[in-house]
Amino acid sequence: MKVLVVGSGGREHALCWKIASSKQVSHVFCAPGNPGTAEVGENVPINAGDTDALLAFALGNNIDLTVVGPEQPLVEGLADRFREKGLAVFGPSKAGAELEGSKAFAKAFMLHHGIPTAASHTFDSRRAALGFLASDDATFPIVVKADGLAAGKGVLICEDRGSAESAIEMVMGKRAFGEAGNRVVLEEFLSGVEASIHIITDGEAYVLLPTAKDHKKIFDGGKGPNTGGMGAVSPAPAVDDSLLFRMESEIIKPFIRGLKQDGIAFRGTVFFGLMLTEKGPFVLEFNVRFGDPESQVIFPRIESDIVPILASTAAGRLSGKLVLKDEVAVAVVGASSGYPGSYKKGLPIDISFDFPASAILFHAGTKRIDGKLMTAGGRVLAVTGLGRDVESARNFAYSAIRHVKFDGMVYRKDISKV
Ligand code: AMP
Ligand code: GLY
Repeated sequence: MKVLVVGSGGREHALCWKIASSKQVSHVFCAPGNPGTAEVGENVPINAGDTDALLAFALGNNIDLTVVGPEQPLVEGLADRFREKGLAVFGPSKAGAELEGSKAFAKAFMLHHGIPTAASHTFDSRRAALGFLASDDATFPIVVKADGLAAGKGVLICEDRGSAESAIEMVMGKRAFGEAGNRVVLEEFLSGVEASIHIITDGEAYVLLPTAKDHKKIFDGGKGPNTGGMGAVSPAPAVDDSLLFRMESEIIKPFIRGLKQDGIAFRGTVFFGLMLTEKGPFVLEFNVRFGDPESQVIFPRIESDIVPILASTAAGRLSGKLVLKDEVAVAVVGASSGYPGSYKKGLPIDISFDFPASAILFHAGTKRIDGKLMTAGGRVLAVTGLGRDVESARNFAYSAIRHVKFDGMVYRKDISKV
């Protein structure tokens, strides 16, 4: 079987790494990939957003299965275009991808299908949004969300009316996130612990993937600005079997019923971003793709071959069982100094010869120039360690990342501790 993975980050390296270990797979291509995906497969110089070129490549190379990493191509309808040509693709239709592509759509879906989520109001004009803030219905802190895709930056937590007004001005006035700010969702602030729950579904059946917890803030102790994710642990320490059972009955099952009732075709993964509150689990957002860095802890914990599950889902009849390793995984992200603000690129990366063989180094923002490995992004790489418990997985990941160096490299010291 020939598999094409679309994307170029740490998530895609983790996907390619897992897919390449399948006995069913003869060749993994990654478009455009990174130096890590080139170690387990073959990179193809086509950008994730170039659907025409990806389609031509898949048809021309008899690709049996395409797995889409990022959300943007799905929201733009890549999966529909591939299916029209009879190609098997793991990733939802454009209609399904709207669950991530429009927060207003996601909120309406949750309300309609009784899925617990924060109370919210959607506005398509700045005047109406500001009017709501001035009314007695507004409570603070409040969360201001650009409706559309904003590369993870479109959510602003505002302590008071003044900062919420500035956030609306930025999103809808200055259009800091472009068209994503045509509408805005104002949402009740929830407090609690976050968890990432992924399922794979063909729109009817589903399998639950290992739970995970991401660490979004740049600094130790959960301080500083939000990032794409500075590290992750799986399983999520706050999620036990009884909570998982509750999530299935209160969130996952109503979600699948909702897809069917609304006639939304879905063949792919759903990543539920949850807040575990005193009142139970609430959905913060849907993602229609695997999390990053969640993938770097989820895939290493899967013992069984993932390809039969991905391929059967793409074919619309999910089958196969997932067997997990009885181990904990911790991934620590090494980032460029300055991230999530501006940072330098093109700094040489040194991976020492004694990097432990059983730790896994996942590339994200790296490039090879004249054979030398260089930094090429904010989140540069992640090191995953497995262990019999959280402490040993964490210790292993941290001892391994010390063998990786580049100028100004920053990483959190408390991944899986908080
Ligand atoms: P999202 O992209 O919707 O997951 O939001 C990004 C981050 O903002 C989440 O991971 C949370 O940390 C935070 N967030 C989003 N919505 C809320 C909310 N209603 N209450 C508190 N925090 C939130
Ligand atoms: N780690 C969060 C995300 O992938 O959206």
